[in-house]
Amino acid sequence: MYARAMGSLGKVAVITGGGSGLGAALGQVFAAEGMAVAVLDIDEAAARQTAAGLAGEFGVPTAPVPVDVGDAGSIMAAAHRVEADLGGCDVLCANVGVQQFGAVDRLTDDDWRFVLDVNVLGTVRTVRAFLPLLRARTGWRRIVLTASSSVLAPGVRMAAYQTTKFAVMGFGETLREELAGEGIGVTVLFPGGMITRHLESSAAARPTALASTGAQPDDLDAMLAHRPMTEHDVVTPEHAVRNLLADLRADEPYSLTHGSHRPVYEQRRAAMDAAFDRMEAE
Ligand SMILES: NC(=O)c1ccc[n+]([C@@H]2O[C@H](COP(=O)([O-])OP(=O)(O)OC[C@H]3O[C@@H](n4cnc5c(N)ncnc54)[C@H](O)[C@@H]3O)[C@@H](O)[C@H]2O)c1
Repeated sequence: MYARAMGSLGKVAVITGGGSGLGAALGQVFAAEGMAVAVLDIDEAAARQTAAGLAGEFGVPTAPVPVDVGDAGSIMAAAHRVEADLGGCDVLCANVGVQQFGAVDRLTDDDWRFVLDVNVLGTVRTVRAFLPLLRARTGWRRIVLTASSSVLAPGVRMAAYQTTKFAVMGFGETLREELAGEGIGVTVLFPGGMITRHLESSAAARPTALASTGAQPDDLDAMLAHRPMTEHDVVTPEHAVRNLLADLRADEPYSLTHGSHRPVYEQRRAAMDAAFDRMEAE
């Protein structure tokens, strides 16, 4: 089955946060194509379990690799380990992201530092560490950056998290321009709500040195009251990734998963169009 990957698709997929949720579902997408999968996660047990599951179900080579994307040395070591174990990287999914609730006037500097370091710098470090491996390959190569549908329809009590996801989109758009001449496509993924262990894993990954948080027990309720969700707004991660491969094959800049946030996004687009119209009418 592994030989199948020698065709139109690359051979090795690397996924950060691959131990659970969306990252594990991404692993299934690539393993189903016969690709080897490196499962990188701060939760080593989860990485091992997911890697073993993929190897058992799809018969592909896998490598569980412990990593903390908040630590530049850790992610560099992970890149060396992937190169040694699986031979390189053709698809990189920089997927780790942690949640941080809190009203704008209550979020602490430590709250901001936590999400900026993991979600923004962690994504940047991941790309920096694996770009040499991607560049060493030829043929089908892609980078997938996990943002969030909250970029398309921002809600309340999530300013820190949403700001980091806007940054992930901005980084991805810049990266896409910079790598355009090298045949490495960059796609920003905007998942809607998914049933995962995101809140638990975010709490577990928060460094103990960053004890203080401005998050309050009613933040989640306030967020949901501001942007009510229907049953269609929360899906399994496996459902969320169903169209990703087609978007990657077509080298689409953006990939959406599900959710009813389009009307809110359209308001932004209309407001921006109106701003252009005013400027051009001068
Ligand atoms: N769950 C949702 O509703 C939702 C919605 C939109 C976007 N997202 C985004 O999807 C991505 C995946 O989240 P998920 O919902 O699958 O959550 P998850 O908790 O199931 O998976 C996240 C994984 O990342 C790992 N992780 C956390 N910090 C890490 C670090 N510093 N270094 C390495 N690994 C680390 C965790 O151990 C966990 O296995 C995140 O970027 C998240 O922001 C989630």
